[in-house]
Amino acid sequence: MSDVQSTAERTQKKGPARAAEASGRAATGKVADTALAPVITIDGPSGSGKGTIACAVAEELGFLYLDSGALYRVVALASLNASIAEDDTESLVNLAETAPIEFTRSLCGDSEVLLDGQAVTQQLRNEGVGDRASRIATIESLREALLERQLRMRRQPGLVADGRDMGTVVFPDATLKIYLTASAEIRAKRRHKQLIEKGMEANIAGLLADINERDDRDYNRAVAPLVAADDAISIDSSALTINEVVTKVLDFAGNRL
Ligand code: C5P
Repeated sequence: MSDVQSTAERTQKKGPARAAEASGRAATGKVADTALAPVITIDGPSGSGKGTIACAVAEELGFLYLDSGALYRVVALASLNASIAEDDTESLVNLAETAPIEFTRSLCGDSEVLLDGQAVTQQLRNEGVGDRASRIATIESLREALLERQLRMRRQPGLVADGRDMGTVVFPDATLKIYLTASAEIRAKRRHKQLIEKGMEANIAGLLADINERDDRDYNRAVAPLVAADDAISIDSSALTINEVVTKVLDFAGNRL
């Protein structure tokens, strides 16, 4: 299965077509099959374990998986590769609209992110790319450009989407909304462990400072700030194992799917 988007699909829809798509209707007024696909959203700050949990839940339910942070990261990477300045909003938005981004599969695990046909999944995890992603994520028109790509991922049999605004902005009608948190200290320790296991150098104090800085931007930006949706269920994963969190989410999902 491939999620390669055609050039036509990448073309931006405006006005009624976009609004129709957002509500799950085709522009013709016909109900698209995407309308009924259930969505589970998992939002939360960097390092709260959203990706791991979302992946496991998607796998368990046989649902598709959307790592929305990867979209922001891939635009960040493309902008760094093209030496686009951080304040060159027009070029950044243009990149978000037109960059040839593909997910080889919309399932978790063995999915690769391709930029211009090249696998960039590993590069997306670099701290520099993450830092730029969180900066460009404050640009409203860039978020608007990426919204289209995210809505297109909603397909049968269902989708698990992780990010910051999945439950508040992108899929406000989601079947189940989870807001996953963990203390900044725990998140820094987890990140430290991951990096050491990969044989990379890491320093907890530096990681904690980065996490606090990124949180600050995500929580306080004017557009789509990180906030729990009113109808989200909050889970603090600080003292829980991955399996414990996955079980909780599946239990909540079981009551609603
Ligand atoms: O989740 P991840 O750390 O990969 O996301 C990278 C950055 O992209 C985040 O720091 C955040 O600022 C931004 N982001 C966002 N909205 C999303 C997903 C990610 O603003 N839905």
